[in-house]
Amino acid sequence: MMHNNLFLRACKRERVERTPVWMMRQAGRYLPQYREVRANTDFITICKTPELAAEVTIQPVDVIDVDAAIIFSDILVVPEAMGMLWTMEESAGPRFPHPIRSRDDVAALRVADPERGLRYVLDAIQATKRRLGGRVPLIGFSGSPWTLAAYMIEGGGTSNFRYVKAMMLDAPALFQDLLDKITKSVRLHLEAQISAGADAVQIFDTWGGVLPPDHFRKFSLEPMFEVVSTLTRSGQPIIVFPKGANHSLKEVSEIGADVVGVDWTVDMAEAKEIMGDRVAIQGNLDPSFLYASTDSIRNEVKSILRKFGKGSGHVFNLGHGITPNVPVDHAIAMVRAVKEESAPYHS
Ligand code: CP3
Repeated sequence: MMHNNLFLRACKRERVERTPVWMMRQAGRYLPQYREVRANTDFITICKTPELAAEVTIQPVDVIDVDAAIIFSDILVVPEAMGMLWTMEESAGPRFPHPIRSRDDVAALRVADPERGLRYVLDAIQATKRRLGGRVPLIGFSGSPWTLAAYMIEGGGTSNFRYVKAMMLDAPALFQDLLDKITKSVRLHLEAQISAGADAVQIFDTWGGVLPPDHFRKFSLEPMFEVVSTLTRSGQPIIVFPKGANHSLKEVSEIGADVVGVDWTVDMAEAKEIMGDRVAIQGNLDPSFLYASTDSIRNEVKSILRKFGKGSGHVFNLGHGITPNVPVDHAIAMVRAVKEESAPYHS
């Protein structure tokens, strides 16, 4: 029994009394309760300890009162299950000490077997579902094949994507082999999360926007279409978030996902105009607006609600993840503003 299913109804563009709201990266360092857990335990250990992962997953439900939880994990758990070691460095972010650069590197990767390599994510989902007791739905997630390929080839964050783009252009067959292995792994991981109890899944295409439109469609959108169209599920919505790929919103809305997430550089009225008759839309407050005053935050929330206008099919969110130094009170104020200001659009 789900007590608050506003999020799931909005994903399906069914009637809701008000617009549901959650935040990407809502379990994280801006929350004092998370920092307390992190003081004693490193990030990857939290991911791999189901009771701790469940605890931090539920923190934003308790503290900022969002309408959905998202399982505490990372997109890089899939490359690990494919055979890559990774570290999370306090300043540099995630690192693969042995990035994928050759045919042998690709050949050495296996398709992830979630029951073995990602059992801890599935256990965390089961533990979280038990502890949530139906308060709000739980979202599972994965990186997109393109975004994961970028991390695996670059070996970490990058400003120019030189290695992944060179492989994509110079060794297209090899690059496609890699994408195929990742695509299978992503589908299996999302299916396993759904079997473990995830009520919806989101595909984070964080790096979709660094490609020209033609290359985005071939190397990012096509593998996501493959995942979405082959995923076994029983009604659980799929959200795709192609950050920065605003040149292709129409095409993204045609791959069979239930919801498309948009970043803050798109006008919500325009996103609805382009996609609103096919999919629900998630977004899209500029994450840095959470550093402004709570009055300003409320004004910006109202503006996005007004742009989406009347009717269902809007899941309120930020246009990307919440950042570490946002005051918790401002996150709470954003959630409250969505709840208080959105009802008239559903009357
Ligand atoms: O949304 C949630 O609250 C669920 C948890 C979640 C995390 N990472 C926890 C995390 C989710 C959904 C992710 C996804 C993720 N991870 C993405 C896609 C979304 C996005 O933000 O674009 C990406 C690109 C990653 C890879 C990653 N993980 C990076 C680049 C970093 C370093 C930057 C940073 O924010 O610290 C991480 C670390 C990370 N993932 C943290 C958390 C809470 C911070 C780790 C810490 O506690 O020190």
